[in-house]
Amino acid sequence: MNRLILSGILMAVLSPATLPAQTTFTNTLLPQPAHLTASSGRLPWTTSITIAIPHHRSARLEAALDRTLDQIQEQTGIAKPTITTGEATLTLDVDGPGQPVQSLDEDESYTLTVTPTSATLHAVTTIGAIRALTTLQQLIQSDGHTQFLPAVQIEDSPRFRWRGLMIDVGRHFEPVDVIKRNLDAMAAVKLNVFHWHLTEDQGFRIQSKLYPMLTGRGSDKLFYTQAQAREIIAYARARGIRVVPEFDIPGHTRSWFVGYPELASAHGPYTIRREFGIDDAAMDPTRESTYQFLDKFLGEMATLFPDPYMHVGGDESNGQQWKRNPRIRAFMRAHQLSDTAALQTYFSQRVLKILQKHHKHMVGWDEILNPQLPPDAVIQSWRGQDSLFEAAKEGHQAILSQPYYLDGMKSAETHYLSDPIPAASGLTPEQAKLILGGEACMWGEHVNSLSIDSRIWPRTAAIAERLWSPQSVTDVDDMYRRLDIESVRLEALGLTHISHAGTALRDLAGSPSIEALYVFAGVLEPVSFGERYDQQHTTQLTPLNNLVDAVRPDPPSRHRFAILVLQFLQLPSNPGPRTALAETFRSWLAAVPTVEAQMNTSPRLAEARPRAEQLAALANTGLEALNYISSGSKPPADWKQTKLAQIEAAEKPQSIVRFPFLPALTDLVKAVPDK
Ligand code: ACM
Repeated sequence: MNRLILSGILMAVLSPATLPAQTTFTNTLLPQPAHLTASSGRLPWTTSITIAIPHHRSARLEAALDRTLDQIQEQTGIAKPTITTGEATLTLDVDGPGQPVQSLDEDESYTLTVTPTSATLHAVTTIGAIRALTTLQQLIQSDGHTQFLPAVQIEDSPRFRWRGLMIDVGRHFEPVDVIKRNLDAMAAVKLNVFHWHLTEDQGFRIQSKLYPMLTGRGSDKLFYTQAQAREIIAYARARGIRVVPEFDIPGHTRSWFVGYPELASAHGPYTIRREFGIDDAAMDPTRESTYQFLDKFLGEMATLFPDPYMHVGGDESNGQQWKRNPRIRAFMRAHQLSDTAALQTYFSQRVLKILQKHHKHMVGWDEILNPQLPPDAVIQSWRGQDSLFEAAKEGHQAILSQPYYLDGMKSAETHYLSDPIPAASGLTPEQAKLILGGEACMWGEHVNSLSIDSRIWPRTAAIAERLWSPQSVTDVDDMYRRLDIESVRLEALGLTHISHAGTALRDLAGSPSIEALYVFAGVLEPVSFGERYDQQHTTQLTPLNNLVDAVRPDPPSRHRFAILVLQFLQLPSNPGPRTALAETFRSWLAAVPTVEAQMNTSPRLAEARPRAEQLAALANTGLEALNYISSGSKPPADWKQTKLAQIEAAEKPQSIVRFPFLPALTDLVKAVPDK
């Protein structure tokens, strides 16, 4: 159990005389703060709370306060407190505004002290205050009668300076509102970098006034105007979030070539690519006209996006167009560039100079890492964590994404336990300082505006804690306990990661009656990006309206089921877990006939029929296992072997969804007595 929660509970357990039931502090903070001490007492949150802002005041600070108070009002039903000029219950003590353009070095620290009579929040900058207000909102709790802030002393600052979420809007465009609600969620868990992957083979999504045919021909008319980009940048800034745009070059650029074929390394004409995967098309790195174009375009973007960093991709450029072009081959010989990787480094060096001219630091995916690359370039590691360490050893700042790919459909636990600087990193303390942090990556091939939240949240909140909280905060069960609560708070902010299942299942069933389907969908999760791509051969034009699009990665049922199995196996005579497991299996069994009946009238659902049949069989296996273990009786000779084979069959690819509970069910079956 986490030390902080333990201290809260111990306080309540050890001093019952001084701490009546009302003082029990339930720690639902996510991310966990660096230092927290809970003490006795609480400050009731009532209409008589008053607020003072005695020092620095600004529109940004007041707007952040107002948003927090609105959310607390929504959550508690208690009318918003008033701001006074005199003595107040809640004091917002902020030294100054912080940087005019938020940088890596912005001070995000704060302290928050709650006593039974007052609350004081101190921060050096407005962003520190924004982080403190987020914590304040998460602290509010209720004992069923009153709402209150528990008495605590919090001193907090992030472990890493770069805590990001990347959203790819190239493969599927995401409207402004979708981006904004995800910025709200990022701020709620103290993430501070929105990495906006704006250009792809499948779509060019940002207006250029200098080169209007980029979106004119390369976007299907789905793009952000510069005014909308400014609106999003301002929205992010108001929440203490930097916006780092990505213009992925020299590969992943087919959409650029639809309007400007002269940029490419082979003759056009080009059309927007609908297929996914690696494309041969790449910018021509040998022509001066390419760099003149990039100088103007990136210069225009450098003005639009105030962040000191600009991402220029560099991933998955396969060199095929370069190898096939005699003029490019001649250029490579003339410049002693021995292979296409060397030619890409030449290109990266030229682009880095352009960015420096426009006062930007370059960020690129780990393919750009090369001894010739100047140390100013920041490396984003995605093909393996070793590239992160290599980059740091070569003097580059680096960002970890490899374990935080959301389309891998891994559990929150897997993401959570991936530390950017594990003990075995082999980095010196100086090199470790170059690890700026990490970014969750939401690639857009298989998401649209309906499903995207469910792929990002709540798992990204677990990643946010990894990047903010001390390295020692690693209690998985406690993370899941708080994640369940945070997940609901995020929905209250407008995210749709839970509610989207209802919408999608009603659509699939063509009916408002989805109780049984909800049970079925609740024990399924999507297969990984690669598995879906291989099984379904998706393109940008594939409708995303199958059962796989209605289910969530790492559904809460997975961890709950695993805990119940563990508790049952530890003490089979304990009726609680046994009853809960039996009820779970019976609910699966009860759901299947209705689900199968709905499949008869919905072809999109019917595709998952084998999964419904498997679920019924697995539920019966679970019930039988419970009975054998509880009674200590022996099953028929081949029972265990047959059931393990049944589970193995259920692990096989099918209907592009999978059962996340199979490992725990395997443990249950294996625990059945043999003799
Ligand atoms: C990447 O996933 N191609 C950076």
